[in-house]
Amino acid sequence: MARITSIRGRLLYNSRGNKTIEIDVISDNTHLGRICAPSGASVGKHEAISFPENKPEKSLEILRENEKKFVGLDPSNLKLIHETLRTIDSTGNYSKIGGSIAFAITIASIDSAAKSVGVPLFRLLSNDSDLRFPFPLGNILGGGAHAGPGTPDIQEILVCANGSKTIREAIEVNFAVHKELGKILAKREPSFTNGRGDEGGWAPRLKNDEALEMCASACEQLGFTLGKEVSLGVDFASSTQWNEKKKKYVYERAGFENTPEEQIEFAANIIKKYKLAYAEDAVHEEAFDEMAILAEKFPNVLITGDDLLVTNTEILKRAARVKACNAAILKVNQAGSLYDALEFAKEATKNNIKIITSHRSGESVDSHISHIGIATKSKMLKIGVVGGERIAKLNELLRIAEHGLIRGMAEI
Ligand code: PGA
Ligand code: ZN
Repeated sequence: MARITSIRGRLLYNSRGNKTIEIDVISDNTHLGRICAPSGASVGKHEAISFPENKPEKSLEILRENEKKFVGLDPSNLKLIHETLRTIDSTGNYSKIGGSIAFAITIASIDSAAKSVGVPLFRLLSNDSDLRFPFPLGNILGGGAHAGPGTPDIQEILVCANGSKTIREAIEVNFAVHKELGKILAKREPSFTNGRGDEGGWAPRLKNDEALEMCASACEQLGFTLGKEVSLGVDFASSTQWNEKKKKYVYERAGFENTPEEQIEFAANIIKKYKLAYAEDAVHEEAFDEMAILAEKFPNVLITGDDLLVTNTEILKRAARVKACNAAILKVNQAGSLYDALEFAKEATKNNIKIITSHRSGESVDSHISHIGIATKSKMLKIGVVGGERIAKLNELLRIAEHGLIRGMAEI
């Protein structure tokens, strides 16, 4: 069994050019596990804090003071690594050491452990003999907190080739739709600059409904029938619009406001009109009962909680009790450690809630989440379509396909 011989942290930068941390965990002086922490722009109220006082330097300082505690541990023993972390920071949201450290130490340890035994990372996380490829779900048009003024209020319009039979086909269809949409946007709006948002989706000056229309056209012009070979999804990220004082959703860019009842109607109409396979955070992060109305109305659509659940097992239990959603976003750094996130995945599976493993808008070129998505039996993997930090995760899926250990695509 391998033993951790050293841990080292460093200050690096994410895809937005913001400071982040990377951690190396080395086992037996040989096996390097390494990962760089991502970060979000539309951050849920209850998710783990990335860094204490927003200072990655502070996280690294605390790590340096405590690194000896990890030396000698078995890097594959996630529970022990997690518990050791908890002796340094026992706060619910990792406010002392930072969720980024929890994220990076646990994933780098398991990465090092996988290298020490020469197996792919997903295999170390799951012994299941029926692992499948989650369908890549990617942002083709972005607005909200991920793009500038003039873009839609809706944060993300996504594509998923849910009729594809292989992972390569599913990835290539997403590329084709993204490209086709670029052509449509350039034709319709000569001043379109080919600008893209934080996750690589196009960022045009359009209203919500116009943006959805163009995305639908891109799929149809390629000969696809929406809801058949290809489906659209939407991350409403509605907490961005929710105004607690007014008790209304304020769509500043489009110039209208929705009461909670109108918001349900608004989301339901979009789901129906565009035959969405996926609808994330259609209401704000505390609106469990309103989410439950949508989940009941659309049992065959992935009514997904992201800000609603923040990869928090206790919040998930509450959501499951009121049937607030039938799918859950899993973002390891929202939870903190990989151990926390895998506990969340277990609870979701127990409650028949489908898992969607996801990137963050501020990412690194690491690709560990492709393995985590497979091991947690995620139905979709929300990792974008283009941009180096997104492609890294898609390319990793194709490398994994070479092993022949995955039995085709997930059943959604
Ligand atoms: P974030 O957004 O990574 O900026 O939080 C992604 C999402 O809301 O799904
Ligand atoms: Zn989201």
